[in-house]
Amino acid sequence: MSSLPSQLAARIEAVAGIDPELRAATKPQFGHYQSNVALRLAKSEGKPPREIAQRIVAEVDLSDLCETPEVAGPGFINFRLRNDVLAGTATQILEDPRSGVTSTEHPQTVVIDYSSPNVAKQMHVGHLRTTIIGDCFNRVLSAVGNMVIPQNHIGDWGTQFGMLIEEILDEGIDASTLTLDESDALYKRAAARFREDPEFATRARARVVVFQGGDEESLEIWRQLIDTSKAGFNEAYDRLNVLLTDADLAGESTYNDDLPVVVRELEESGVAVIDNGALCVFVEGFSAPLIIRKSDGGYGYATTDLAAIRRRVRDLHADRIIYVTDARQAGHFAQVFAVARKAGYLPDNVQAEHVGYGMVLGTDGKPFKTRDGSAASLSSLLDAAEEEASPAVALAAIKYADLSNGLQKDYVFDANRMVQTTGDTGPYLQYAHARCCQVLRNAEAIDDAHVGPITVLAEPAEQTLALTLSRFGEVVANLAADLQPHKLCTYLFELATAYSTFYEQCPVLKSEGAVRDSRLGLCAATRNVLRTGLNLLGIEAPERM
Ligand code: ARG
Repeated sequence: MSSLPSQLAARIEAVAGIDPELRAATKPQFGHYQSNVALRLAKSEGKPPREIAQRIVAEVDLSDLCETPEVAGPGFINFRLRNDVLAGTATQILEDPRSGVTSTEHPQTVVIDYSSPNVAKQMHVGHLRTTIIGDCFNRVLSAVGNMVIPQNHIGDWGTQFGMLIEEILDEGIDASTLTLDESDALYKRAAARFREDPEFATRARARVVVFQGGDEESLEIWRQLIDTSKAGFNEAYDRLNVLLTDADLAGESTYNDDLPVVVRELEESGVAVIDNGALCVFVEGFSAPLIIRKSDGGYGYATTDLAAIRRRVRDLHADRIIYVTDARQAGHFAQVFAVARKAGYLPDNVQAEHVGYGMVLGTDGKPFKTRDGSAASLSSLLDAAEEEASPAVALAAIKYADLSNGLQKDYVFDANRMVQTTGDTGPYLQYAHARCCQVLRNAEAIDDAHVGPITVLAEPAEQTLALTLSRFGEVVANLAADLQPHKLCTYLFELATAYSTFYEQCPVLKSEGAVRDSRLGLCAATRNVLRTGLNLLGIEAPERM
């Protein structure tokens, strides 16, 4: 089922020759949708816009969908959907377990690289954002019928393991007993010593070589650090109620054996060249080359990312790869994608996108810190929200606050504001959903309620609610394409608002007969869409609050 506005748009385009770019009407008296197509055609056709608008209205047959379209002002065309059409669509949403979410015509294999914390370190507030945002993409892209392969690219390799292992051996710690908190503290001690103690720094560097050369004692400690970290990450994922599991782990070390292969391929094809002892790829538009192999023979973050792209395309058969990290890594990914294209690892028909997000700020407008002034860990953030509300409400608050602004923007973590049940918050939407459930429970308590069909849309508030319901599928489809969750948030907020107005103006339980059935149908359809929509954001929708 394609949505009502897209059906409208297709028919108008057939007559006008260009996309009518339908917009929601700015005022109810203008109908439901508006188009400026005639104004845009006026230049090329050399005719007054109103004349073109009248021609389009005369030629296009929309009688099964709309009232007769009206030409307004300088040449806008206003469309008002027929009530019976809106009622039919609302009834479909009521009966459809997917609430009008339709599958894409061309299902894809989509790799989403998200969360990706670093071993032996606490997840911090940035990891909170990538985990919540990536999880939302996972849910939405799956819901519209794609095959999603999450990839948790944890930082489980690199030179930091030299100092970590050396510190563990010095302190005589049994790494298998460490918690993630303790590893984090150990990491800080090791890093401080590395900075201050040249003898330790030398040993740590030597340890990197021994460890990466396959020394069993070192590898054993490394594995233990990974295991304790994974347990800590999983605790956070449970607390956040996200979809990630151990099956999605594909850390940096996954690609170790591929790195020399990548180097060989890039050298043989001439894509990479030696520059000052380092193996580099120069791509246009970047001030510095991408370093594939450092002059000391080591590989860095970028080489691993190239190797990962190569496998995601070749072995996972990705049609689209999405990376969710903080916005500061935008340049890194732009360059990695350019090099991967040049190397043939990323063919033109595979889409690669970096979705960057802004910082989490405190109410003082500075990067969020905990009360004792240290950089905030993910769990301290959750703790702060849970001081204000129950865990379920606190989590809804955090996720919604994270997703409801443009992702690129920094957002202010104001625990007190975001748990409020009024205003544009996650808990407000949870309440709106619970209120729909309550009305339906009350109706059942009175008699054996008929919920739907939705037939009577006499009141403007009923029409607005039905129209809003009918837009859901399209909002989800757009989110799958443009990866902008705030638009779904805005939509759900509008739906909750339309429902409130409807509920104030149209008695449900006190009405009778077909009107009552229809209004109960609107309540149930609203409940379904709110629940489905919240779930796509990763937010639970309890039936009672
Ligand atoms: N571990 C990195 C960090 O914490 C994020 C990794 C993102 N994914 C990637 N393929 N580079 O910033």
